[in-house]
Amino acid sequence: MRIQKHPILEFKHEKKITFTFQGNELEGYNDEPIAAALVAADIKVLSYSRKLKRPRGFFCAIGKCSSCLMTVNGIPNVRTCVTRLEEGMVVERQ
Ligand code: FES
Repeated sequence: MRIQKHPILEFKHEKKITFTFQGNELEGYNDEPIAAALVAADIKVLSYSRKLKRPRGFFCAIGKCSSCLMTVNGIPNVRTCVTRLEEGMVVERQ
């Protein structure tokens, strides 16, 4: 589930890389945000709300809300919609 063609944006998708999400190995591209790689793998729940534990996913997708906060390589509260995917990253819900 990736946008392959867009009227004004260009997606190069040059290099496929692997990363870990919740202990499972997934594939993505080095030029895409972490959240985009997760959505492409059909993972839409990125976190749960603190108080009511409601599922959270993409909302603004430009780094202006807190809907996509995840723990990346042990660092909490990473905005995965604006953080580039890197080889071997360990991504977890928080
Ligand atoms: S979806 Fe809003 S900051 Fe990432």
